[in-house]
Amino acid sequence: MKVVVAERAGMCFGVNRALEMVESVSSNSFAVATLGPLIHNPQVVKQLEECGVSMVSDVSEQHSGTLVIPSHGTTQETINRAVDAGLEVLNATCPFVANVHEKAANLIAEGYEVVVVGDPGHTEVKGIVSAAGNSALIVRNLEDTCEIDWSGKRVGLVSQTTQKPESFGAIAGYIASQARELLAYNTICYSTQERQRAARALAPEVDVMIVVGGRNSANTNRLSEICSEAQVPTYHVEVASDISPDWLVGAEVVGLTAGASTPEWVIQEVKSRLEAL
Ligand code: F3S
Repeated sequence: MKVVVAERAGMCFGVNRALEMVESVSSNSFAVATLGPLIHNPQVVKQLEECGVSMVSDVSEQHSGTLVIPSHGTTQETINRAVDAGLEVLNATCPFVANVHEKAANLIAEGYEVVVVGDPGHTEVKGIVSAAGNSALIVRNLEDTCEIDWSGKRVGLVSQTTQKPESFGAIAGYIASQARELLAYNTICYSTQERQRAARALAPEVDVMIVVGGRNSANTNRLSEICSEAQVPTYHVEVASDISPDWLVGAEVVGLTAGASTPEWVIQEVKSRLEAL
């Protein structure tokens, strides 16, 4: 059985940057904690814990030392609370996420009603909504969008960085046809787009697709959706031991892709297990 890895897969610029920032501070500081998972990958979070970097779910749980804001960002209110509590704040928000915050804040200042394409429960989306003064509307998909009356509105549209460009385009097109004015920024990051493009190109060429990444990783879940849309049996795994040999019966070529928070060593372990089966 042959295993083909997508042309672009695995860790992105923003995740690497966040890890480097934490590594550099953890060797010189005491009591370093990340606010929620630094990145959406349980294996990396476990490794950080082993190196003395803990994780808290709220600012109130960290009483001293450094609080790290993860690559997907947080709300301005949360950062203010951490500063008021006397904590050192290490802001590892990815610059592409920070760019969405800036766009959302500018749109509000210019009098637009801000709309965010994204998952309402995701921390990144909560941060974007906060940057827009907590008045932004969230739409998950075209169905949500079609249920809203846009007539007469001046809409400023941005996206969670890990959404699908096709979905963003369809939503923008619908709003443009209904609203008085639309100013749309495609804020999906280039890493997400490259990985989605590579997965879409590979999926039709293989018998089975394996997508590696945290189950809580938005961009990994998008890759799974894209591979499934190609009508290829697709399985989302976090680690090599998740793979069931039953999935591969009769498969001659298996495709492999990985989310932007999946480390290279996890990808290589999955690849080795597939080749051994
Ligand atoms: Fe940043 Fe995009 Fe990665 S927003 S964290 S480069 S997936």
